[in-house]
Amino acid sequence: MFSDSSVGFIASLITAVLVLAGLIVMIRKLNRSNMRMLQFMTESIDAIGEGIVVFDRQDRVALVNPRYSKMMRSNQPAVAKKSRFIGKVSHELRTPLTVINGYIACLVKAAERAAEGADPDRNVAQIKAHGARIQSAASHMRRIVEDLLDWSNNERGRLVMDRAPFAMDALLRDVTDDFRMEIERKGLVLETAIGGAQVMGDRARLKQVICNLLSNALRFTDAGRIVVTLASDRDEVRMAVADTGIGVAPQDHARIFETFHQVDNSDARTYGGLGLGLAIVAEIVRQHGGRIQVDSDLGTGAVMTLRLPTHA
Ligand SMILES: Nc1ncnc2c1ncn2[C@@H]1O[C@H](COP(=O)(O)OP(=O)(O)OP(=O)(O)O)[C@@H](O)[C@H]1O
Ligand SMILES: [Mg+2]
Repeated sequence: MFSDSSVGFIASLITAVLVLAGLIVMIRKLNRSNMRMLQFMTESIDAIGEGIVVFDRQDRVALVNPRYSKMMRSNQPAVAKKSRFIGKVSHELRTPLTVINGYIACLVKAAERAAEGADPDRNVAQIKAHGARIQSAASHMRRIVEDLLDWSNNERGRLVMDRAPFAMDALLRDVTDDFRMEIERKGLVLETAIGGAQVMGDRARLKQVICNLLSNALRFTDAGRIVVTLASDRDEVRMAVADTGIGVAPQDHARIFETFHQVDNSDARTYGGLGLGLAIVAEIVRQHGGRIQVDSDLGTGAVMTLRLPTHA
């Protein structure tokens, strides 16, 4: 059926295909083993860096130190917690950064329009509004970075407090006034009953405490009111921030003062935040010889009460 020459041609074609297939398999194998070798080398370098490997007498890499591999295995939850935390920090920083980026672009456009001389009043008003938004996002970023620094200083036992007498009532009035506009913009009512109170301590740190409590009350309240009170007697200064927000279930009362504990800790968290605020608050209050407690239940709002020793 086939001539000799066509049989010869088919035979050489089959041989060529087989040789080519063989070559492809060889190259892939080589690549795979090269990749494995490369991966092994990278892992070994990492392992040496982390002190996980041990060497034999000829300076060859011996077995992976079983003590370290056990430690690494038992460290898995801490490692997972750390990556989760880094994810949260990146997310929290990205939000204000996006705002800053967006409004800088708007600002540049408005400035260009102003330079062209068209509708100067409108352009100046827009430049001011964009500037204010950039400033507020930058302050948000600064607060996140400051919280992170405080947390890391506290971990190393370096969160130090000043000690000087000051009027807590004046401080509380100042801070609530700073929050008033934001609270009212959200449609909430701010009520205050601030009596005179003298304390001994670090004014800036106690300002941070008040800011944290007010910012939580604002974030976790969608309707109703925020009530700030301050009263003192011979022994004790009592400050409370009460809200009508989502509240905290009793089983979470102690844990919300722990670092990173957030009642909603899911990836799709509605309220954002890092879960550092109350842990820092609790440490500052502790260093002032005071205490803080939460009274709340789910859906009934929350009352945060701070008690500090009175300074005569
Ligand atoms: N007023 C409040 N109402 C309801 N839940 C609250 C209130 N204050 C705190 N919480 C709960 O306690 C958790 C811990 O609060 P904390 O201030 O430490 O962290 P955060 O506000 O989530 O983040 P950060 O303060 O670091 O920005 C919050 O995530 C929230 O679940
Ligand atoms: Mg907070």
